[in-house]
Amino acid sequence: MSKPIIAPSILAADFCHLAREIDMIDKSQADWVHFDVMDGMFVPNISFGSPVLRAIRPLTSKVIDVHLMIEQPERYLEAFAEWGADVLSIHAEACIHIDRNLRRIKELGMKAGLAINPATPVHIYQHVLPWVDVALIMSVNPGFGGQTFIPYTYDKIRALRQMIAQAGSSTLIEVDGGVNLDNAPKLLQAGADVLVAGNFVFSSTDPLHTINTLKQLPAFNQKIV
Ligand code: DX5
Ligand code: ZN
Repeated sequence: MSKPIIAPSILAADFCHLAREIDMIDKSQADWVHFDVMDGMFVPNISFGSPVLRAIRPLTSKVIDVHLMIEQPERYLEAFAEWGADVLSIHAEACIHIDRNLRRIKELGMKAGLAINPATPVHIYQHVLPWVDVALIMSVNPGFGGQTFIPYTYDKIRALRQMIAQAGSSTLIEVDGGVNLDNAPKLLQAGADVLVAGNFVFSSTDPLHTINTLKQLPAFNQKIV
């Protein structure tokens, strides 16, 4: 039986001991490190950027999954390639030239991710699917960790899973926001491949154990990036 890809979000980590947190993820069964970049414009919050990414890059061999919540992300594609991003996700709502930007991310040697806000319909993926390695479905309004999961996300995942199957595509479906052990099995059943978890992991008494517990859930549509 295949397993989900687990991506702990370090937005919820203890920044005073970030190296220790990365080390914990590195020793866990997590596959990716989810790295949330917020600009205070696209979302009403500012998080972290290049100095933090460059500091943690040498500390882990895990895939670094950068989620850009910034306006005009095309300004930073080359920079994130240089700073060591493996997967780079841009928001559909934050750029005019989605097609051009996805192609550029792939040209730069990264896996291309296209993120959508809760209210954005999944049909935006239809024609660009060949250039989308990861479809990042936001299950909360982006900007903050610790928010409550939006239940209509299940319908979006099911619809996207069907689109991907019909296209014979290997695009991964990643879910981000309010993921926990209550909704994770249902998300995987709906067709999710990658689970991002911030507060559920880092607010737990044993984050490493929590990551490993999520990893044991059965996945249904596993493909490896
Ligand atoms: C929210 C971020 C998420 C966040 C998830 O805007 O994109 O990645 O860190 O945190 P939780 O799992 O706490 O909702
Ligand atoms: Zn995120």
